[in-house]
Amino acid sequence: MTPAPDARLILIGAGGHGKVVADVAAAVGWQNIAFLDRSFPDRRENGAWPIIGNLSEALPLREAGACLFLSIGNNSIRARLWEGLSMADSPMLIDPDASVSKYANIGAGTLVVRGAAVNTAAYIGKSVIVNTGATIDHDCDVSDFAHISPGANLSGTVTVGARSWIGVGSAVRENITIGSDVTVGAGAAVVKDVADGLTVVSAPARPMPSAIKGGARC
Ligand SMILES: CC(C)(COP(=O)(O)OP(=O)(O)OC[C@H]1O[C@@H](n2cnc3c(N)ncnc32)[C@H](O)[C@@H]1OP(=O)(O)O)[C@@H](O)C(=O)NCCC(=O)NCCS
Repeated sequence: MTPAPDARLILIGAGGHGKVVADVAAAVGWQNIAFLDRSFPDRRENGAWPIIGNLSEALPLREAGACLFLSIGNNSIRARLWEGLSMADSPMLIDPDASVSKYANIGAGTLVVRGAAVNTAAYIGKSVIVNTGATIDHDCDVSDFAHISPGANLSGTVTVGARSWIGVGSAVRENITIGSDVTVGAGAAVVKDVADGLTVVSAPARPMPSAIKGGARC
């Protein structure tokens, strides 16, 4: 659905990921896009778009008719802000150059970036990032606030738990269940189920003793 010409989209989080979100929003027809970020007033722009305030402006702007969208790469922070700001009416943003089956289900506040593919009967929750060129095959179930990084491939009937981060260029075999708050490292090949909270790396993927949590800082 193309937004009305005077509709305003406020993106929360003006990092590199924020620029990607703004680019997708512009591609689907949003003409009036601005950021809120804690770096304001030191920073006043992020790429081609203005930064007009910090988080305290979010609710007044929504009351004035703007739509809000979380454009922060970190999954845990996105989850926290989603609850705090009651974001259930956030739009989904699907790049025109992504391919999404009409039989897939995409949640509110979810981003699908160019070159990504979401196949039939896939279920994608709210505020998920399906990043550049990632593929999510048939019957996958990707929970809220997950991030499927650029070029990651989920085979059919893969489950990804809430806030989990599937690293760039990784591959997940069919019928695998990945728990909540999991990190799958860049280039990993996941061939066994992964329990909640683990970080796994390499091919075949193995647990890594200590690693950062909470999602990409791209
Ligand atoms: C797994 C990951 C989260 C670990 O991050 P980290 O805790 O900062 O780990 P470090 O970089 O300190 O590396 C620790 C060790 O693990 C190894 N390692 C790190 N990531 C690895 C990976 N993906 N595969 C294999 N080994 C890895 C490092 O070589 C290092 O080994 P060493 O101790 O023998 O030198 C991170 O490397 C990763 O893969 N992140 C995904 C990045 C991504 O998808 N970005 C997309 C942004 S949009």
